[in-house]
Formats: sequence, structure tokens, C-alpha cells
Amino acid sequence: MSTGLFISLEGIDGVGKSTQSDLLEEFLTSAGRTVVRTFEPGGTELGQEIRHLLLHRKGDVAPRSEALLYAADRAHHVATKVRPALERGEVVITDRYLDSSVAYQGVGRALKAADVRAISMFAVENLLPDLTILLDLDAAKAAARRNQTGEAPDRLEREKIEFFESVRQAFLDMAAAEPHRWLVIDADQSVNEMQAQIRARVSQLLGSQ
Ligand code: TYD
Repeated sequence: MSTGLFISLEGIDGVGKSTQSDLLEEFLTSAGRTVVRTFEPGGTELGQEIRHLLLHRKGDVAPRSEALLYAADRAHHVATKVRPALERGEVVITDRYLDSSVAYQGVGRALKAADVRAISMFAVENLLPDLTILLDLDAAKAAARRNQTGEAPDRLEREKIEFFESVRQAFLDMAAAEPHRWLVIDADQSVNEMQAQIRARVSQLLGSQ
């Protein structure tokens, strides 16, 4: 049986994660791999309900409740979708994973980053990605890109620029602390330039399997 490969994409809202995921999926499929594309929050049926609670329900959510809801979504996502695919030898590409919780809840919401990480590690029985791709962009530029889409902002996207600045910095700090797992991409480049850098790193990983 071939070995599964687990890749996550991270970054603040508006940096272009889904475009890069689409192109990476194409690349991996043409390399003969079976790809499962997924996302958090909401990558499962149960997760869709949790996603609604987190992003579209009226009213506040207490920060610790928010952190636990994201972790609950993640626990079910990993148990029912991610781990089974990896065990079948497939490639899983997820748009966001536990590093989003550490950055948004741990740092953005000022809960302790180590506590938030510990909750998620419990949720996923310590499953970390083989590669985490950070699309890094200035918070003001990312906000401008979000506005261009014309979509109504969800509860998290209504946060102030300072919130996104602290989340961005949290991602950069995590990447610096664990360089073997992270690839930092400057998201102020063209779609193709970004994808070329991603494909180069993923090719190395495929070669080492
Ligand atoms: P996402 O699905 O990426 O947003 P969109 O569909 O609008 O592109 O994520 C929804 C929001 O949830 C996003 O603002 C980031 C936030 N989030 C957290 O705060 N913590 C988490 O653990 C995750 C996975 C997402």
C-alpha cells in the first residue's frame, strides 16, 4: 500500500487558499494520486452544522466555546474523513486545520496558544500534517481582496484589522518554530508563481515517499 500524504493550507481570510488548493489537487491527480479535498470548519455533515453555529448564527460565542466548537468539528473530521483516506494511501488536502485554531483562538482571541493546541491535539489524536502551506499576506491587502468578492462577511471576517494582524503573526511564528513542516509562500505574487513554489515542495515530498 502506498503511503498517504496530509497537506494543510493556512493563512488569514482572503489570501487565496482555495485557488491554490484547486491547482495543487490538479497537479497531484495528474501525478496519479487519489486526492481528497476537504476543509475546516465543516468538512463533514456534522461539521456543517458546527460551521453554521460558528459563523452564521446570530449572537456572540464565548471564546472558549468557539475554541471547543472548532475542535469538535476537527475531531469528527479527522476520525471520519481524514484518517480513513490517509489509511487508504490517499492525499488529503485540507483548507485549514489545527494551526488555524492556534492562530485565531489562541492568539486572536487571546486564549493561551498552548492550551488551544492541546485541545486540538486531543481532538485529532496527535495527527499533524506532513506539510502545512502558509499563504502569507499583509492583513490590509487580504481585507481588500475579501471586499472585492462582494460576499457578506461571516462572524470572524467582521473582526478588525488588528485581529487579522495578530493572527497573521501567529502563523508566521508557528512556521518559524517548525520549518520542516511549514512552507511559507508570499501571497502577494501571481497565482502561478505561488503554485510553482508549492509544487516544487510537494514534488520533493512525493519523491521521498
Ligand atoms: P473558512 O472556511 O476558511 O472561511 P471562508 O469559507 O469564508 O473562506 O473559515 C471560516 C472562518 O473560521 C475563518 O475566518 C477562519 C476561522 N477559523 C478559526 O477561527 N479557527 C479554526 O480552527 C478554523 C478551522 C477556522
